[in-house]
Amino acid sequence: MKDPIVLSMYARKGGAGRTIMCLQLAGACAEYGANVLVIDQDPQGSLSKNLFGAGAVERLRPYETTAAIYDKDIDDYSRVIRQTEIPNIAIVLKQAIEEVRLRIDNRVTL
Ligand SMILES: Nc1ncnc2c1ncn2[C@@H]1O[C@H](COP(=O)(O)OP(=O)(O)O)[C@@H](O)[C@H]1O
Ligand SMILES: [Mg+2]
Repeated sequence: MKDPIVLSMYARKGGAGRTIMCLQLAGACAEYGANVLVIDQDPQGSLSKNLFGAGAVERLRPYETTAAIYDKDIDDYSRVIRQTEIPNIAIVLKQAIEEVRLRIDNRVTL
């Protein structure tokens, strides 16, 4: 297997086009034949809502979202990666931060 190429969209400012850039890049790479894994780290979770549906995302348990990556008690990531309806695009979903009540490192509560 080839080494994965990691692309990060990061900006402090809102409305800078991070979400749309992720969607466009993911779509372009998938169309090109790449296997794409989108990891949503935005507290608003808009990428997840776009790719998976707002209702479906909010019904998830925290261990099925990005929060699981930061929980040292969770070592089974099989529930974290979801196939989207788009071929070749999978996603690690993010819930809006207000709804995530998972303890991180058993000390900090989001
Ligand atoms: N290149 C662009 N041209 C026109 N509109 C854009 C462009 N990039 C983003 N937008 C629009 O600007 C708004 C904010 O983009 P978004 O991707 O949600 O930003 P962010 O995730 O950084 O907050 C959205 O309505 C999006 O459709
Ligand atoms: Mg965004």
